Amino acid sequence: MKASGPIVLDARFVGAADQLADLPPSVHTELAFGGRSNVGKSSLMNMLLGRRKLVRTSSTPGATRTINVFEASLDQAAGRRVLGLVDLPGYGFAHRSKSERASWGPMIEQYLAHRPGLRRVVVVCDARRGIGEEDGELLEYLAHLGKPAAIAMTKVDKLSRAERQRAERTWAGTPDVPLVWASAETGEGRAALWAALLA
Ligand code: GTP
Ligand code: MG
Repeated sequence: MKASGPIVLDARFVGAADQLADLPPSVHTELAFGGRSNVGKSSLMNMLLGRRKLVRTSSTPGATRTINVFEASLDQAAGRRVLGLVDLPGYGFAHRSKSERASWGPMIEQYLAHRPGLRRVVVVCDARRGIGEEDGELLEYLAHLGKPAAIAMTKVDKLSRAERQRAERTWAGTPDVPLVWASAETGEGRAALWAALLA
């Protein structure tokens, strides 16, 4: 049987803000989840945490508008550990007010560049679309900052077998940026993603 990843003993919402200065301080190592709007960032976090509704999700793009900090207590083979998990607003969402859109990039950039404790950023992509232009820009920005990244190709449950094979031939991780195929719907990739994140 495949291991399913660490046991999440406890997971809770800590706080939210629309600018770095107003966020609760990062007391633990943090993992952040970024990506296009509606790709399934918040759903993936719920899947990893084994909580159905802790992180707010929506079928309408633009569900997450602030930086949302969660905290999880994990039980691993190596012992207990508390981690911060951060849900970032999605990018590439056109139906926002101009001012809200303008504050978008800077809000996320500030967080990525200046958040103490930020350990790794998971760039979440829809497996049907692959790595888009904005995802590439985010990955480049993280490389420029020297921040470790990982790619989660989620919603794989929506791919046919042929589409899956084509996608796997097209996209691959690197030693620096691991890539995991995942689904919040079926739980696929949970152990692999946790392994990449806790490495
Ligand atoms: P924003 O907060 O708007 O940036 O979106 P998000 O990236 O957080 O996406 P969210 O998790 O809210 O999910 C968007 C929609 O996709 C919801 O209707 C989810 O139920 C659906 N969804 C997310 N992950 C999966 C998945 O792995 N498989 C399937 N079939 N649907 C998914
Ligand atoms: Mg969200």
